[in-house]
Amino acid sequence: MTPTIRIVEVGPRDGLQNEAQVISTETKLELIDRLAAAGLRTVEATAFVSPKWVPQMADHAEIMQRLQRRAGVSYPVLTPNLKGFDAAVAAGATEVAVFAAASEGFSQKNINCSIDESLERFTPVFKAAQQASVRVRAYVSCVVACPYDGPTAPEKVSEVAARLHELGSYEISLGDTIGVGTPASVSRMLEAVAKKVPVERIAGHYHDTYGMAVANVFASYQFGVRTFDSSVAGLGGCPYARGASGNVATEDLIYLFHGLGEQTGVNLEALVEVADWISSSLQRPPNSRVAKAMLAKRVPNTPRPAS
Ligand code: HMG
Ligand code: MG
Repeated sequence: MTPTIRIVEVGPRDGLQNEAQVISTETKLELIDRLAAAGLRTVEATAFVSPKWVPQMADHAEIMQRLQRRAGVSYPVLTPNLKGFDAAVAAGATEVAVFAAASEGFSQKNINCSIDESLERFTPVFKAAQQASVRVRAYVSCVVACPYDGPTAPEKVSEVAARLHELGSYEISLGDTIGVGTPASVSRMLEAVAKKVPVERIAGHYHDTYGMAVANVFASYQFGVRTFDSSVAGLGGCPYARGASGNVATEDLIYLFHGLGEQTGVNLEALVEVADWISSSLQRPPNSRVAKAMLAKRVPNTPRPAS
């Protein structure tokens, strides 16, 4: 059945970028492929950012070169500038994402420039992408609050989102980077953005620091948003937003949407196995209520299915 909800799995990128331990390229490639095998149609694979800024993503070219591309699955990557874009395309990327912020403090800390400067840097990326027929998604971070500047005005989010939309992004993903939003603050922000960007072009990207991410997804769904970013096992955080936790867990979203009668195309049991496997690889339990509940129901001593 055709999915009615689009999930953008960001675990291999947003989920792993903040991990202090070195994760092998083999593990990352296996994670990406297992996620696609579980039915995820968009798996953000890596980030073509400076390895000095985010060492965990330093194997970006090898990831894209060795990826087993499955039919019908897209593997977007983050590109902060033309250098990253050129390297991504040379390594085989066919979809990229630029990332801006709605707060000056986060823009400076994350990509070392002001919001205006970041949009200037993205302009040649959009031009090059158009020439190469590469789709461009755009993120806006700190849509509710910033770890450096405090609360973000919804009008500032809508202004940055509108500029990214005008530059040619096919979708704008609105990031509650530090996971402080509630259905009320997220709805106020969406109301402002939807005045300038069609709701079909908006995606929700909610981190779960205060445990509100599923509620924020539901509020956004009621608002009309149908695309959401999430991380398997709730992995993640941003190296430039200290204390921020992972994204909303993909398992929790799938459970929510299947319960609402929506189609995601994702096999929840298979996804929980992926959550269990990657969490074991990282020596921790999955940070997902649904994964924990489903794993607890396993009959003791039952061998795990072969991977
Ligand atoms: P900079 O230091 O201002 O860059 O960093 P520069 O242009 O002055 O170059 C400095 C060095 O970086 C040079 O190397 C460049 O070649 C190199 P050197 O001469 O010193 O050896 N360089 C690059 N190397 C590889 N790939 C590139 C690249 N560009 C320059 N693309 C820069 C500016 C943007 C590069 C840096 O700040 C950076 O890489 N930042 C990335 C930060 C990041 O990845 N943050 C996490 C992702 S965002 C996020 O998680 C939020 C999100 O999930 C949504 C949400 O939750 O809100 C998306
Ligand atoms: Mg994020």
